[in-house]
Amino acid sequence: MRLDKFLCDALGVTRKEATKLLKSCEIEVDGSVEKKGATKLSDDNEVMWQNRELVLSGPRYIMLYKPQGFVCTRVDDYNDTAFLLLDEVNDKDLHFAGRLDADTTGLVLVTDDGQWSHRITSPKHKCDKTYRVWLADPVQDNYVQAFQEGIELRNERENTLPAELEVIDEQEVLLTIHEGKYHQVKRMFAALGNKVVGLHRERIGDIVLDQDLEPGEYRYLTEDEIASVWK
Ligand code: URA
Repeated sequence: MRLDKFLCDALGVTRKEATKLLKSCEIEVDGSVEKKGATKLSDDNEVMWQNRELVLSGPRYIMLYKPQGFVCTRVDDYNDTAFLLLDEVNDKDLHFAGRLDADTTGLVLVTDDGQWSHRITSPKHKCDKTYRVWLADPVQDNYVQAFQEGIELRNERENTLPAELEVIDEQEVLLTIHEGKYHQVKRMFAALGNKVVGLHRERIGDIVLDQDLEPGEYRYLTEDEIASVWK
């Protein structure tokens, strides 16, 4: 493969941008600066840019521990985007497989595989999500049944799907829902007259937030985690 074509694919840049990188001596092949786009690469050549080896990557699947104050969109007028937490080349191909609010922490999945993320976000597949929720007021006796029966939300035609509530203590619960309406968890508790004061996503389907990750850190998913989405 030609070096300029390789740069386009590995970095997601245009041929013109690749030529610019080459001309400005930013690309090294096997330890030496290479300026010619026509240079032919073999499988054992090592191509470096900004001190990192470039590879032609397959689809990427990432779990990110989103801290408070970051949004899961490309741009936002008030908050930083969680994309800033990812040190990935060619990150414009990546998207979030389901969002969290700026003040919600926890598991978000990031990928460039649209079919895979569709399995997670499409209402048809009813993917489970588990949230740890801290409430302003104590849990009431009717909550477990109310979540199980489905809750009427303002501006929604249908009640929420049955959801499972596990009470941890007076003002802390684990809630598993099988859909992802806008601000769903906050709106469900608001419908019961309570207020969510802390929200943290622990699980999406069979993928559990890795306890070794600190807020703001991420890792690639294992083969089993990736495959679990297709089950
Ligand atoms: N439900 C909410 O209300 N907010 C989130 O961030 C996720 C689920």
